[in-house]
Amino acid sequence: ADLQPFNTMAIRERAEYLVRVESDVELREALAQADAHGWPVTLLGGGSNIVVAGPVSGLVVVMCSRGRRILQRRGSDVLIEAEAGENWHRLVGWSLDLGLSGLENLALIPGTVGAAPVQNIGAYGVEVRDLFDSLDALDRETGEIRCFTRDACDFAYRDSVFKRAAGRFVILRVRLRLHTRAQLRVDYAPLAAAWASTGLSRPDARVVAELVMSIRRSKLPDPAVVPNAGSFFKNPLVPGLAADQLATRFPAMPQFPLADGQVKLAAGWLIDQAGWKGYREGSVGVHSEQALVLVNPGGGSGAEVLGLAEKIRHDVFQRYGVMLEQEPPVVGL
Ligand code: EPU
Repeated sequence: ADLQPFNTMAIRERAEYLVRVESDVELREALAQADAHGWPVTLLGGGSNIVVAGPVSGLVVVMCSRGRRILQRRGSDVLIEAEAGENWHRLVGWSLDLGLSGLENLALIPGTVGAAPVQNIGAYGVEVRDLFDSLDALDRETGEIRCFTRDACDFAYRDSVFKRAAGRFVILRVRLRLHTRAQLRVDYAPLAAAWASTGLSRPDARVVAELVMSIRRSKLPDPAVVPNAGSFFKNPLVPGLAADQLATRFPAMPQFPLADGQVKLAAGWLIDQAGWKGYREGSVGVHSEQALVLVNPGGGSGAEVLGLAEKIRHDVFQRYGVMLEQEPPVVGL
């Protein structure tokens, strides 16, 4: 099967076998078949956070289960549940239509519900762990369905137990805690400015979602138009002392001190300042509005994308002594 329609970088590589599963039963059947043949299994949601670097041997399982529901209302708290194959942004829209607040800052993030906890998706000051209640996942080692609480997921910045133990757990459905009363988080600077300019005094989750969408559209390429996988690197954490030295040498460098004494740097700023923004090399390049996003407008290969990423990593390290960590996992070869 051609994997191009299944990855937002639009990399053209083949999977040996590919199956779309719509239920727990279909998933178990697919996994049983893979085990019987000794095929390795690669799980895919929306394919918006992977780099396909070569042909994928074995079975690719695309999670396509659908369904979303309100499970429980308690005061102003509302517990919702959605199947792994649901589109994330459509879940955000559905919850807002029901008058629920909580997901507005996470509007327009590509991908599926099942993929959201894997890398603890986040934007504009909110991460999925902030709304997270629990999830059900199939443990491929025991064959049992396990319920994971928030603690069990061991969420961190763009990370979780599911990303670390890639392939072991298949997320089936996710439960989130939302609110009927809007509790807005608009302290992220560009969002705060946009919110202030509306002049609204009453909190309104839908308005915040609209603002988030317009900020995203101005900076991030639509994968349906310009193939990309979102941020290609994580924002690096450095020790406080190293951050102080960098601040002396580069006074304009944005720095975000964390509670543990480490400092988060803006990878996009480092790459931008190093002159890579808008750079084009063959089929691939660096987005012109946000240097953290690598793009594949010319239908380049995974190797081309990874080659450019390596050059950027090397250059940023030479200039700042900071080693960037790639964000999307590599699939194939
Ligand atoms: N910056 C530049 N040049 C650039 C890009 C950024 O100077 O080309 C500077 C900005 O001016 C700002 C700082 O770097 O001072 C941070 O930039 P921005 O607010 O755009 O956010 P980011 O740190 O680059 C992160 C997430 C995004 C998320 C935004 C908003 C990561 C890896 N990325 O980007 O997530 O949308 O914050 O919350 O943490 C994704 O993961 O795919 C993604 C898009």
